[in-house]
Amino acid sequence: MRRHKVSIIGAGMVGSTTAHCLAQKDIADIVLLDIKDGLAAGKGLDLFEASPINAFHGQIQGTTDFAQTKGSDLVVITAGLPRKPGMSRKELIGINGKIVVNAVKECINYSPEAKIIIVTNPVDALTYAAKKLVGLPHSQIMGMSGMLDSSRLRTFIAMELDVSPQDVKAMVIGAHTGSNMIPLLRLANVNTVPLPELLEQEKWPKIIDRTKNAGAEIVSLLQIGSAYYAPAEATTEMVDAILRDKKRLMPCSVCLEGEYGLSDCALCVPVILGKEGVEKVVEIKLTDEEMQEMVKGANVIKEMIECIEV
Ligand code: LAC
Repeated sequence: MRRHKVSIIGAGMVGSTTAHCLAQKDIADIVLLDIKDGLAAGKGLDLFEASPINAFHGQIQGTTDFAQTKGSDLVVITAGLPRKPGMSRKELIGINGKIVVNAVKECINYSPEAKIIIVTNPVDALTYAAKKLVGLPHSQIMGMSGMLDSSRLRTFIAMELDVSPQDVKAMVIGAHTGSNMIPLLRLANVNTVPLPELLEQEKWPKIIDRTKNAGAEIVSLLQIGSAYYAPAEATTEMVDAILRDKKRLMPCSVCLEGEYGLSDCALCVPVILGKEGVEKVVEIKLTDEEMQEMVKGANVIKEMIECIEV
């Protein structure tokens, strides 16, 4: 059986950390690509030189050449500018729109069947734009947002309850914009014990606010760049679910075609991830208030999509 091949476009902090996480799983050959000469080659070689210690058995290649991505099973797009302090994800749309759509076109040209995970912000708008402009089926392309936001929510619940983050199950859906995220605390549990039995509802707003602002919290602490450990781990979890056909239920940004009564935009919803990519959108029953938030989020994303010029 041939090894899987994953190409990661953008060798900045998120891209190179994703390569690192992926190498530690030893599930695919890795191509790391960046237009900046030497950056991907240097980081790729450095990571490859850790193979004996990591027990990594494949190839890692750093390059500036999209031809090297040929035959990829999966492509992760991290290329683009990160947020600066005080900047919204929306302000990145002009520059990152061009970068992401061109990168997806190049990769699909060399690997027409590759599943695509968009990580670059604003992730929902860019997922939709890339799908539409490149003409991909909606199972083939998705955005990484919900796994990151949910991981943050799970962490904050674990901190509050002083329990293992691993045992906390919780999901964030909606738009990856901060204010339009929908942390579903009412469905959260700690190893099946419902959250409402463990934590008074008065304590929920603090956790919800911190989750919505978690990306900005890291940006303001770092001052240069944005988060990368949690985004890279979240992305790797999605890659692993697809390559190993795990059929995992994960919140991902997908182009909606009538699910949740929404279309013409991408939003984060629960999906089943397996070898076909987004194998199913799972429609859960939302409250009226949550549904109103979904509609608001969809409208915000639609406005962003209109700003994309390619
Ligand atoms: C964050 C940025 C990357 O949430 O969207 O950290």
